[in-house]
Amino acid sequence: MSNSKKTTIPLVDNYTIRAVKEQDLPFILDIFNECILDHSTLLYYETVNLDYIQKWYQACRSSGYAAIAIVDKTTDHPIAYAYLSPTHPFPAFSLSTMLAIYISSGHRRRGLGRVLVSELLKIATQQKFKNVVVYISTANTASIKLFESFQFKYVGKMDYWAYNFGNFIDGLTYQYIIPETQVSGQERPTFEPFSWES
Ligand SMILES: CC(C)(COP(=O)(O)OP(=O)(O)OC[C@H]1O[C@@H](n2cnc3c(N)ncnc32)[C@H](O)[C@@H]1OP(=O)(O)O)[C@@H](O)C(=O)NCCC(=O)NCCS
Repeated sequence: MSNSKKTTIPLVDNYTIRAVKEQDLPFILDIFNECILDHSTLLYYETVNLDYIQKWYQACRSSGYAAIAIVDKTTDHPIAYAYLSPTHPFPAFSLSTMLAIYISSGHRRRGLGRVLVSELLKIATQQKFKNVVVYISTANTASIKLFESFQFKYVGKMDYWAYNFGNFIDGLTYQYIIPETQVSGQERPTFEPFSWES
């Protein structure tokens, strides 16, 4: 999915992985809201609307952060997606990026999470990020196991990280360092924007 490579990669028989398109947004809205409603993975008090997802998508596109989806080949509808975003809105943090991933509940434990993380790490390497970060609530065993299987390194726990529906939730931070990215010099660091049309 780099500038020089195709975005459509054969996956398994029924699925394809590609950059998120505008037409995907209603399906992404459903996946996102499903995770909100389980009250354990996305710590929001209310579901979001399509306008929220459209703004997220425009922000990804305008700032150059990648968003990819796994789509059902027969319908071209997303059943899972993942994306990169800034960790902090300051130039010194440009080479760190946060990874988020959501699989529709009916499609979990089929290896799709592993496929998306693997692809997004390749993209993050092509985009010349140095550091990929995930924040996970301590109760999210599936996510912890998924990222540990990619050698994400546990770097810390924040107690009382969030308060959600009557419970304090502790948060874990994991990071993946990209050895290929080398930077030197005094200039402000920048990453390569994701190629949406490739
Ligand atoms: C976490 C999540 C992305 C995993 O996606 P998935 O497609 O089900 O994961 P995979 O099938 O690729 O599994 C990869 C590995 O993750 C771990 N894993 C996944 N689901 C698991 C579960 N329910 N319990 C324990 N380990 C689990 C396993 O180590 C698994 O490898 P294995 O099948 O060889 O044992 C998915 O459960 C999800 O979307 N959850 C809700 C959103 C979320 O939590 N996002 C991450 C926020 S940080």
